[in-house]
Amino acid sequence: MSINFMTLPRHILEQEKKYPGATGELSALLHDLALAAKVISLEVNKAGLVDILGFTGDNNVHGEQVKKLDIYAHDMLIRAMDHGGHLCVMASEEEENIIHIPQKHKIGKYVLLFDPLDGSSNIDANVSIGTIFSIYRRISPDGTPGTLEDCLQKGVEQVAAGYIVYGSSTILVYTTGEGVFGFTLDPAFGEFLLSHDNIRIPEKARIYSINEGNYKYWRTGLKKYIKYIQAADDRDEKPYSARYIGSMVADIHRNLLYGGIFIYPADKRNPNGKLRLMYECNPMAFIVEAAGGKAIDGKNRILEIQPKELHQRVPIYIGSAEAVDMVKKFLIEDEIEEAVHSKN
Ligand code: AHG
Ligand code: MN
Ligand code: MN
Repeated sequence: MSINFMTLPRHILEQEKKYPGATGELSALLHDLALAAKVISLEVNKAGLVDILGFTGDNNVHGEQVKKLDIYAHDMLIRAMDHGGHLCVMASEEEENIIHIPQKHKIGKYVLLFDPLDGSSNIDANVSIGTIFSIYRRISPDGTPGTLEDCLQKGVEQVAAGYIVYGSSTILVYTTGEGVFGFTLDPAFGEFLLSHDNIRIPEKARIYSINEGNYKYWRTGLKKYIKYIQAADDRDEKPYSARYIGSMVADIHRNLLYGGIFIYPADKRNPNGKLRLMYECNPMAFIVEAAGGKAIDGKNRILEIQPKELHQRVPIYIGSAEAVDMVKKFLIEDEIEEAVHSKN
């Protein structure tokens, strides 16, 4: 049996050597994040054992009920990241405003945005959940406190993004834009070991992931697309399999490995969909694109959207390139048809 000793810290350092002039700050930042991930992973694994389940009774900034583990992960990330000297500002899905670096700590040149716990409605059922992070270089002057503008950059400006899935094992996936790498946490070593080298998403999808319970609220183009992939048999192709965990990070992780499309659309009730551009869609789009896939809001690339607010929501169609191109065709055809109808 051979043991792969490419640890996450070693991998980050080797990646960094590819960028001449790199100061090592981004590496240190990723290292700190991995440490926070380990601590959160431990707590997630204990969730069934300790009295941490159940609602806190508070609502987050989106008016959704928050579970204790969300707050734990949010607090842990801030505590792990605010004193490294690498960040000038942070923002979290669980906090309305930007999070400043305490004055006593050095102010760095990077910006960190995160969804501390994604898929939190799954906690009580022992179903996969995750953490998503997104890193930018600051645009405000060095040495000053970071600003809202630092946080509201387009996704294409990300210098790194990643996620951790707390599933049958804990996996951390990250990219700095070139190559996507996955590391599995070895509970014995307490170390992330390279398990998925240079992940490429299959070009063709085999899986679709969408909350089909919302079918009646969808636009015609989306309804037709879903019927199309279900009827693939008529074209001598296998129909897609439906897989929907309800944790975006876990749904996309699976699709990244097996080939698939994940959709959280705009619909009649939610004109901007549900998922957050800064904490969920941009980082996942950066990763999926780096793995050869695509991510759009129905028409345009997610990564090119100019963010207007921290907690902005956006529809998302993300995954295998061919599938994203196909759904886009259905959506645009529907729009053209509607425009023609409304003229007549
Ligand atoms: P969060 O737990 O961070 O609020 O995110 C939950 C999100 C996302 O993970 C998932 O894909 C989606 O909510 C599921 O929404 P539906 O229950 O509407 O399908
Ligand atoms: Mn989320
Ligand atoms: Mn969350």
